[in-house]
Amino acid sequence: MIRFETAGESHGEALIALISGLPAGLPVDFDFINRELWRRQQGFGRGGRMKIETDKVHILSGVRHGKTIGSPIAIEIKNHDWKNWEEKLPVEAGDPAKHQVVASPRPGHADLPGALKYNFTDARYVLERASARESTSRVAAGAFAKLLLRHLGIEVASHVIRVGRVELERPATWDEIVAVTQKPEILLSCVDPATEERMKEEVAETSRTGDTIGGVFEVVVHGLPAGVGTYANWDERLDGLLAWAVMSLQAVKAVEIGRGVTAAESFGSQVHDAIHYGAEDPAKPTRFARHQNNAGGVEGGISNGEDVVVRGYLKPISTLRRPLESVRFDTREATSASYERSDICVVPAAGVAAEAMVAFIIAKLVMEKFGGDSALELKRNFDGYIEQIRNY
Ligand SMILES: Cc1cc2nc3c(=O)[nH]c(=O)nc-3n(C[C@H](O)[C@H](O)[C@H](O)COP(=O)(O)O)c2cc1C
Repeated sequence: MIRFETAGESHGEALIALISGLPAGLPVDFDFINRELWRRQQGFGRGGRMKIETDKVHILSGVRHGKTIGSPIAIEIKNHDWKNWEEKLPVEAGDPAKHQVVASPRPGHADLPGALKYNFTDARYVLERASARESTSRVAAGAFAKLLLRHLGIEVASHVIRVGRVELERPATWDEIVAVTQKPEILLSCVDPATEERMKEEVAETSRTGDTIGGVFEVVVHGLPAGVGTYANWDERLDGLLAWAVMSLQAVKAVEIGRGVTAAESFGSQVHDAIHYGAEDPAKPTRFARHQNNAGGVEGGISNGEDVVVRGYLKPISTLRRPLESVRFDTREATSASYERSDICVVPAAGVAAEAMVAFIIAKLVMEKFGGDSALELKRNFDGYIEQIRNY
């Protein structure tokens, strides 16, 4: 079974990911993993922190001579900012006078519920772990899931379809989405340059007023055959697992599969994707085909062979330069919420983190269905199934 766990604080020494259950013999592309980390750091509307950090993986175990060896993979990503925090956030008791308290909780962040839950006298430790800096570890783990999927010809990519009030008003093709992920400079990851320009203006205007903004990203899985996931048990449904994984990301407040939201206000005849049996498509193992994909590639909790399409809806960032009302932890007096260097818009970066989560879920289900202790065995099992579908 593929699993991963993460550890690390936003201003701690390093972030950690521990991944196990990957088959042996998968080639590990270090440049690819580091580029994934770089992509998560980009975007128009990011704060100063990402200018300090240049995330790079340091692999401690589970990879030898450039390939996975079937053992747990331990990854460390250093925080360059640590040198500024060693005294403020020491592992040892340190000097309490140097401790940088977060005196008043930010509405929308984890500060107040976290402090109440863990009995902290300020929100420092809360934000250190609740922070989406944690998603760096997820992206590193997800890169390994992507390497596994790539071995089977399955790819995962994302793009941005809304920033605040600005929306991409047409569907994006797979090639356009891939092109966006490969750009040397990442602004708002929109496939349409004119819409991206308007998105930029939306972020710039938001920044001028000391506010923050949310939006919607879309993750697409390309090349996944029909048959992954199942309706047989509630906790094995592909749609449920995807929603859980993407919703677990910081600031994601709604998840949609395919046209899930607008389907609720439409007629069945307009929503469901009619089934055809046509000519052979070299990209697909079956001649069963759809001419549209409102289902987002999932029916009955199972992949149906079309692209899997998952959207994540992000609330606006909760750290505001013009802070909302709050209350001091120590005196209970009314005051403004704490402010600490912060992002204004993170939709493209959240999309990259969501790619990692989606890739992880797909890789987990793929391993459960096809199994294998080596990349060779996995591929053989996978190819056998593709052949079965082809001959169906
Ligand atoms: C990539 C990314 C970067 C983020 N950066 C910030 C940030 O700089 N400041 C902030 O207040 N929240 C930021 N957030 C959101 C918070 O981490 C999140 O709102 C907080 O942990 C509370 O969790 P919740 O929104 O899921 O309830 C970011 C989220 C993501 C996905």
